[in-house]
Amino acid sequence: MSKKDDNSKNPASEATNTAWGGRFSEQTDAFVEAFTASVQFDQRMYKQDIAGSRAHARMLKKAGVLSKSDCEAILKGLDSVEQEIENGEFDWSVAREDVHMNIEARLTDLIGDAGKRLHTGRSRNDQVATDIRLYLREQIDFIIAQLLEMQKGLLALAQREADTIMPGFTHLQVAQPVTFGHHMLAWFEMLQRDATRMHDCRERMNISPLGAAALAGTSYPVDREFTADELGFSAPAANSLDAVSDRDFAIEFCAASAVLMTHLSRMSEELVMWSSPQFDFIELPDRYCTGSSIMPQKKNPDVPELVRGKTGRVNGNLVSMLTLMKSQPLAYNKDNQEDKEPLFDTIDTVSGSLRAFADMVPAIECKRENMYAAAKQGFSTATDLADYLVRKGLPFRDAHEVVGKAVAFGIESKLDLSEMPLDQLQQFSDMITEDVFDVLTLEGSVAARNHIGGTAPDQVRKAAKAAHKRLLG
Ligand code: ARG
Repeated sequence: MSKKDDNSKNPASEATNTAWGGRFSEQTDAFVEAFTASVQFDQRMYKQDIAGSRAHARMLKKAGVLSKSDCEAILKGLDSVEQEIENGEFDWSVAREDVHMNIEARLTDLIGDAGKRLHTGRSRNDQVATDIRLYLREQIDFIIAQLLEMQKGLLALAQREADTIMPGFTHLQVAQPVTFGHHMLAWFEMLQRDATRMHDCRERMNISPLGAAALAGTSYPVDREFTADELGFSAPAANSLDAVSDRDFAIEFCAASAVLMTHLSRMSEELVMWSSPQFDFIELPDRYCTGSSIMPQKKNPDVPELVRGKTGRVNGNLVSMLTLMKSQPLAYNKDNQEDKEPLFDTIDTVSGSLRAFADMVPAIECKRENMYAAAKQGFSTATDLADYLVRKGLPFRDAHEVVGKAVAFGIESKLDLSEMPLDQLQQFSDMITEDVFDVLTLEGSVAARNHIGGTAPDQVRKAAKAAHKRLLG
């Protein structure tokens, strides 16, 4: 973009931005031009912008506002513009501010006056609101597909490790034995909720702002149903003021993404712990780890760590978005241009994290013996012993007391409950008989929790199968 040094006497027609330069007597300051431009980041919506323009042009022709030949020229011109962009030949210009004006200006370069008629009955306000919805809709579909991919991986892992016993934790203290497959199904459920949140967001978002024009609607006989239909929206937005100013859908998407990333972050935390030498429960695939430049022994779980870290920026994006909207009067304000970077960053971060996880998680290698040994420590079958005594007639609170004493003895003598001889156990309660060892084993403990949602291997296999059916029909 070239500027004259002294532009104070420039006639308006020479103003850089011919789309709105008419009422101006001097050119925009070069810094302000760059400061207010969004083309650097909104050009990624070029496909949606062109699709919106095609629908708008067809509608104008149908309404008798645009001639058949102008409409044809516009459609052909838009094809060429799209081609240029895709071939990397398009000359994006900051002077043309944003994706909308860059495309319209190039169209006009190519086809002349017909290009200038495209903006009849439209404003960049309804145009940008339409573009973002179309763009986000496509991205949500992609994210839902990525979630599905990762969920399928989790179900396969749950089936593979349905019998793998590990310690289950509360307060990060060994609580009760669980199966690794059961743990994977817990992750699956988190993602299932994420997918439904994305679906909900998509549905509420999928209405068409086109025809709202700047804020009040337009005096042309627009057919808003037609454009909504052409673009796959479920209906035209009901109120033009709301249509151009609403960014709830972007907030909702960022909120759903923050929850999703919170899930991935919690999983990351577990993966990092489990792959540490202190836990040593799993081996992450080498291709998802890196080494240290100074410590030759290191294998760092960089990918989960980074996903955990990236959760911060997604949470930040949600706060940016809420703060951006909180003081805006109706209708459109330039503030809204600030919606794109946090939104796009959220999309990229979520999608990159899901891609990494969908590939990495099914490739986890379980160190089954280590998990089993860890589950044996920490008296993880203490509840089973209490339940056993209850079944023999002892009130639960008394049983709790008895087992507490047995555990105290175990800590002192460094013996697990299952390792204590029968006569030793009988000193805590004479209700204990030989059959106690069936419940004190880890296998017995997990197998006993054989109900919907329980950790028993049979239950895990059943649940994984049912979930698979729910997902894929
Ligand atoms: N680049 C603008 C945005 O992202 C497009 C809409 C501009 N509208 C306006 N009246 N200045 O929001």
